[in-house]
Amino acid sequence: MAADEKGTSSIVIEEVRKRFELTNGQSIEAVGHVDLEIAGGEFIALIGPSGCGKSTLLRMLAGLEQPSHGRISIAGETPEECIKHHDLGIAMQEHGLMPWLTAKKNVALPFRLAGLPVDEDRVDELLNLVGLQDFAEALPKQLSGGMKQRISIARSLVLRPRVLILDEPFGALDAVTRRLMNNELQRIWSQKPTTTILVTHSVEEAIFLADRVCLMSPRPGRLALIEPIELERPRKLETMQEQSFLNLLAKLTAALDEVCMPEVAT
Ligand SMILES: Nc1ncnc2c1ncn2[C@@H]1O[C@H](COP(=O)(O)OP(=O)(O)OP(=O)(O)O)[C@@H](O)[C@H]1O
Ligand SMILES: [Mg+2]
Repeated sequence: MAADEKGTSSIVIEEVRKRFELTNGQSIEAVGHVDLEIAGGEFIALIGPSGCGKSTLLRMLAGLEQPSHGRISIAGETPEECIKHHDLGIAMQEHGLMPWLTAKKNVALPFRLAGLPVDEDRVDELLNLVGLQDFAEALPKQLSGGMKQRISIARSLVLRPRVLILDEPFGALDAVTRRLMNNELQRIWSQKPTTTILVTHSVEEAIFLADRVCLMSPRPGRLALIEPIELERPRKLETMQEQSFLNLLAKLTAALDEVCMPEVAT
């Protein structure tokens, strides 16, 4: 686990539950009971079956939903306060780009929303980073799904946030681009350790990037397993071929099968 460092933020998730009231008078419990402490600068990957509450947990961390029970604090502040201080970078499952703004203006949007002057060099740097410098003037409808995701990642990083919340940011990328982006994300993270929570359906991606992988059980989501990943950093693409990596992959894949379909997992 990375130590708390100046400029990074630890997160405390305490007895958090989320129940949604439905229009028919019924309700569903999306998140059961989650307790988790994340050290400043730590990278957490969250995996689990579809519908287990991963996005709901991230939306609560991002201040977009309120827990029905429990508390979340980020460096001692509420998520809302953290957003006010521009400390939170978010790329959600739906890329959320503004359809009327060009790629470049979408990346620059957090400056405008924060009432800050746009740092054009920083915007260009991030467009380069995600390989879309030639599409700076394109509108989202002119971009592929993977390109839109890359714009969304660039936008989440533009203000150099202390906490990064990423919900399946690489889901629509082809395998090669996805590996490159994994490497890039690791590089960005290691330059300035940012407390990061990444939701992914890829167990390989989770192990490659994280300090700890958290496995959520089916709805109502709870943490079924927390696995520390002690592979040396920087991890290289070849790390994925090493026996220690393959052992973790086998262990976590079996654990995921077990929570998804306990009756067939042996
Ligand atoms: N605004 C909402 N109102 C009612 N129910 C909701 C709402 N948002 C999510 N849910 C329900 O909460 C549960 C968890 O949804 P969530 O989107 O958090 O799952 P997830 O783990 O992110 O799934 P996936 O891997 O498919 O993205 C689901 O049953 C979903 O229908
Ligand atoms: Mg989701």
